[in-house]
Amino acid sequence: IAEVPASPETSQREQAGREIAARVATEAARRRAFAIIAHPDAGKTTLTEKLLLRGGAIQLAGQVRAKGDRRRTRSDWMKIEQDRGISVATSVMTFERDGVVFNLLDTPGHEDFSEDTYRTLTAVDAAVMVIDAAKGIEAQTRKLFEVCRLRDIPIITFINKMDRESRDVFELLDEIEKTLALDVAPVAWPVGAGRGFVGTYDLLEPGLHLMAEGSKAVRLSGLDDPKLDELVKPELAQELRDSAELAGAYQDFDHERFLEGTMTPVYFGSALRDFGIGHLLEGLAKFAPPPRDRPADSRTVTAAEPELTGFVFKIQANMDPNHRDRVAFLRICSGRLQKGMRLRQTRTGKAVPVNAPLFFFAQDRQVAEEAWPGDVVGIANHGILRIGDTLTEREGLNFSGVPSFAPEILRRVMIDDAMAGKKLRTALEQLAEEGVVQLFRPLDGTPPVVGVVGALQLDVLAARLVAEYGVKSRYEGTPWGLMRWVAADDKAAVERFRRSIPHDIAEDHDGALVAFFSSDWRRNRAAEDFPELRFLEVREQH
Ligand code: G4P
Repeated sequence: IAEVPASPETSQREQAGREIAARVATEAARRRAFAIIAHPDAGKTTLTEKLLLRGGAIQLAGQVRAKGDRRRTRSDWMKIEQDRGISVATSVMTFERDGVVFNLLDTPGHEDFSEDTYRTLTAVDAAVMVIDAAKGIEAQTRKLFEVCRLRDIPIITFINKMDRESRDVFELLDEIEKTLALDVAPVAWPVGAGRGFVGTYDLLEPGLHLMAEGSKAVRLSGLDDPKLDELVKPELAQELRDSAELAGAYQDFDHERFLEGTMTPVYFGSALRDFGIGHLLEGLAKFAPPPRDRPADSRTVTAAEPELTGFVFKIQANMDPNHRDRVAFLRICSGRLQKGMRLRQTRTGKAVPVNAPLFFFAQDRQVAEEAWPGDVVGIANHGILRIGDTLTEREGLNFSGVPSFAPEILRRVMIDDAMAGKKLRTALEQLAEEGVVQLFRPLDGTPPVVGVVGALQLDVLAARLVAEYGVKSRYEGTPWGLMRWVAADDKAAVERFRRSIPHDIAEDHDGALVAFFSSDWRRNRAAEDFPELRFLEVREQH
């Protein structure tokens, strides 16, 4: 059979398609989407500020500072949260250096753990773990690390505050290995300690980064290089030779193991003194992966595919609370996003116009003409988009993995003014879409129940109900200590279960069935009585 020759238009289209595919691949390859994980006070804000300064994204670090200054009293935090300007601007920060585009996704910094943090971590390809050199691994570091491990997110470690009295380096490294079960591969080694800290020795490409030299590397042939004795005091040089030799006991850096999340390269520095930041950035550019393959329900999506795919991992109310505009944060997974595109929302099949996708810089937002895999853009909408939504150019696929966690705190929201019932329902629905709380409608018609992972979320809800909707509410306790999503193929069994506990059954925001239990014992009992049902602690949103 003779092949039908391609028409000129077809080959032109194919040519254009190939060009776009090549651009997508190039742009994807130079992007790094990452988050910083740290226990409060370890220096996340200071480091963020210094990274942005280096990337030329901001002239003055004022905006980020404002966040650092919210000294974690609850009321301060809420005031800042209500001032949406700052939190929107700092949700995603983009900066470019040596041809690499860094997208730094902010994880909420307050001590109370919220779902927002988990969701943000679904949208990054790597994380920088900041550790206070005097404190080592702290509670929040460990929690955040566990989330990264769950998703095999590769981690670069930055041991901060080296300019101050710090713990012994070996002790710190051993602690990381032991408490996190993560192999460490130091790539820098501190020279001197505490007040006597002068810089680091580069173990991968022999050389010294000295604080006094503005941390620029001075290359050496190795630890035996006599230049070392000219650059630092002889006793420091000797000490370095001895300890760096002992550092040889740690494993060599193995890029593959880093990518699979079982090994972390370790850098040392001082965010406050702007030391070690350049080295860390080099590491991020060199080792952190470009946008990774993402599993979807029907197949795995590769970043270099020419057609656009992405998912919404965060929703935030717009700057102006009088207009109920919301910005949905879309992480692009493949293809090219162009201004003016109409995307397909998989959940509903509806078209979502993207007329003014927003890019976020430290201080302002700009309309993006194009965006690429690894980028995050803001899409303004009136509540059409939800957390977990997949948007595509055409294909009806769904990314899995933006999770909802079974809340441990369950409260009824009550109002004294009966007239405000409708307003409260609308408000709760909108705030649930934004992910402030989870909302459940009991099937027995009793008042709505909200669920949260961290108690602070309840304060935020109450404050926003008043400030943005004029609804004064109060919480009433419930007899329940846990909830589970109910999944089953057997409809009759679900029906029997519903009838067995008519007052402990509700629907979540998406209409999925949930059951409330007063105790673990009750839940186990239900699982025994209804073996056809599954009681899920995590629900992946679609
Ligand atoms: P966080 O976002 O992780 O909570 O920490 P943040 O950057 O706000 O830093 C917490 C405190 O630690 C700040 O001091 C900050 O200046 C200090 N810090 C951060 N990095 C370093 C470092 O490398 N060396 C030293 N010595 N200190 C560092 P603060 O006194 O609590 O606040 P501020 O008055 O300086 O704003």
